[in-house]
Amino acid sequence: MNPSDIQKGLKTRTFGRVLYCFPKLASTNDAAMELASAGASEGTVVTAEIQTQGRGRQGRRWVQTEGKGIALSIVLRPKLQADELPEITLAAAVAVARTFEGFRVRPKIKWPNDILLKGKKACGILTETGPKKDKMAAVILGIGVDLNQGRSDFSGDLKGTATSLFRVSGRKTDRSVFLRKLLLNLEETYHWVVARRFSKVLSEWRKRSAQLGGQVKVTQAGRVFYGQVQDLDEKGALLVRNDHGMVERVISGDVESINSRNGK
Ligand code: BTN
Repeated sequence: MNPSDIQKGLKTRTFGRVLYCFPKLASTNDAAMELASAGASEGTVVTAEIQTQGRGRQGRRWVQTEGKGIALSIVLRPKLQADELPEITLAAAVAVARTFEGFRVRPKIKWPNDILLKGKKACGILTETGPKKDKMAAVILGIGVDLNQGRSDFSGDLKGTATSLFRVSGRKTDRSVFLRKLLLNLEETYHWVVARRFSKVLSEWRKRSAQLGGQVKVTQAGRVFYGQVQDLDEKGALLVRNDHGMVERVISGDVESINSRNGK
């Protein structure tokens, strides 16, 4: 991908108007944070064909097949409190889901922000803040999307848990076209957040939830419990009714769907 291809026909106001496309980076989130520290404006986008140290949530790695997916990070400068940050991540999940829908698939969102196609992960989102001396000066929204990978492009555990738009739709997608649509959707849902219309994100998120009403296993700060997903609250925390009938508010960790309690 190159900037002129991507920017041809780009309909956003700010997202991607400043755009850096690198063949190789350690992590696009790190590069975007460096640019933010040097004063990059809101909406600056960094992409990389390959990341040598792509990061996922909870200290995991993000593995990327060169030239087949999209790894991007966007510099944001919202006037939000730290506890409002999940709003950005959920808004981004809605934007990715809407973008996939434009390619005739039906994505689901797994809390907080994995996008699933036919039950397998096709996108992950990692939101980070910085720089260290002023934690909320910039928010870096990092997104990895699997588009054109075939089955053999996934190795190890990923074979069973990851998928791509190609594997589900049977069609190859022009990555620049996808990215342009994604940037437009991201700009719109981000605007809902900064305009204090997070309820719009919540209703769009709920419509696509893979887990509302379902049984889940929650792992939060080393503690595991089981329960049924009730809803999202107005801040984007997941509300899970536990075995004792109490509703717990989940703000971090992993929430895995389980089909039967016997597997516990
Ligand atoms: C997750 O599912 O755990 C989040 C994965 C986020 C991956 C993206 S790829 C672009 C950006 N740069 C990174 O190092 N990580 C994010």
